[in-house]
Amino acid sequence: MSVSLSKVCGGITASTTLRLNALVVELRAQGQDIIGLAAGEPDFDTPANIVAAANRAMEEGQTHYTAVSGIPSLRQAICDHLLKEKGLPYEKSNIIVGTGAKQVLYEALRAIIDPGDEVILPAPCWLSYAEMTCMCGGVPVIVDSRVEDGFEPDIADIAAKVTEKTKAILINSPNNPTGAVWSEKTLRQIAELAEEKDFWIISDEIYEKMVYDGSRHISIATMSDDARKRTILISGFSKAYAMTGWRLGYAAGDKSVIAAMDAYQSHATGNTNSIAQFAGVEALKGPQESVEKMVEAFGQRRELMLSCIRQIPGITCIEPKGAFYVLLDIEDCIGRVYEGKVITDDGVFAELLLQYAQVSVVPGGPFFAPGYVRLSYAVSEERILEAMRRIAQFVGDVMKQKSA
Ligand SMILES: Cc1ncc(COP(=O)(O)O)c(C=O)c1O
Repeated sequence: MSVSLSKVCGGITASTTLRLNALVVELRAQGQDIIGLAAGEPDFDTPANIVAAANRAMEEGQTHYTAVSGIPSLRQAICDHLLKEKGLPYEKSNIIVGTGAKQVLYEALRAIIDPGDEVILPAPCWLSYAEMTCMCGGVPVIVDSRVEDGFEPDIADIAAKVTEKTKAILINSPNNPTGAVWSEKTLRQIAELAEEKDFWIISDEIYEKMVYDGSRHISIATMSDDARKRTILISGFSKAYAMTGWRLGYAAGDKSVIAAMDAYQSHATGNTNSIAQFAGVEALKGPQESVEKMVEAFGQRRELMLSCIRQIPGITCIEPKGAFYVLLDIEDCIGRVYEGKVITDDGVFAELLLQYAQVSVVPGGPFFAPGYVRLSYAVSEERILEAMRRIAQFVGDVMKQKSA
């Protein structure tokens, strides 16, 4: 057979996190007691009131196609949420609902990127951003941040990467994988630079509810009228409402860009699942206690994980203020030999940890964080304690070994 794949699909690297999740499932099926700290989803079930709303929607026959951009009641609920929580005034025509934040994020890039356009990605960042940019023919421009700045990007570093071809900056606070919650100062500087150099801002705010220790999530769209108009705000239900499987996310932005995303989505997928949309209305309008309880539990687990890490020589981390991840610095382990294998990078570290300590973590490389691995604390306190005991043992053994 001589048929070939397209350049776009041939060049895509499949999501590392999803691949690792699949490996964990396989090892568990073989009977191994793997502790999964790799997952990017809450371990809680969707709150009962949301599930009940979905059941009601099905019983009431809400099982047909809907408007491509979503049912009016959900788009209105999103407008109400954005006004109440962030003070952002939007109308329904500023909102599109799609199959997870992932889909609307991709559509946002599709709507604004022409081949060769550059998208600035402050890093470390979620591994899909660069791939999505490439899938649109765009060029990801990585701007590294520093651990000593708590992984907040430096505006001078960003400004240095702006060119004639810069079409957008894609930011994410609270951040995956660093857990950093960016300050108002940084957001304001980015908004001002975007205005001065005239490029779009895509702001992925999917972890908006997950902030700890008195930290506050601020949307860059609130910085000024100009910032709101040039920001495509992305969020969704997966993390805040433990609804990863429902596939429900949204974008808010200028009517022209939302209309373009709507046109694209109308041919690519159409509306997202009608039942999930009715559930989404309940998520936003119904009681919020379950979200608060979940965030409280994440806060406690975060403390627990941090206190364990502080006791393990050879690894360090900054205190994450949001999301549910810790980015662990494993640089001191690199170059050492374990079970006859040289730990050449974070990928090998993660592999050996899975094989010999039965703990799955995500290597930092695909997040533009080489020398780090990402740990998720979306697991029970009991499992965190056991995972950290195993990691302590593993790192202790690694540190006893000489460098290669
Ligand atoms: C930063 C970030 N944005 C977007 C998403 C995708 O969310 P959704 O499940 O709504 O597609 C994720 C999921 O892991 C994420 O970490």
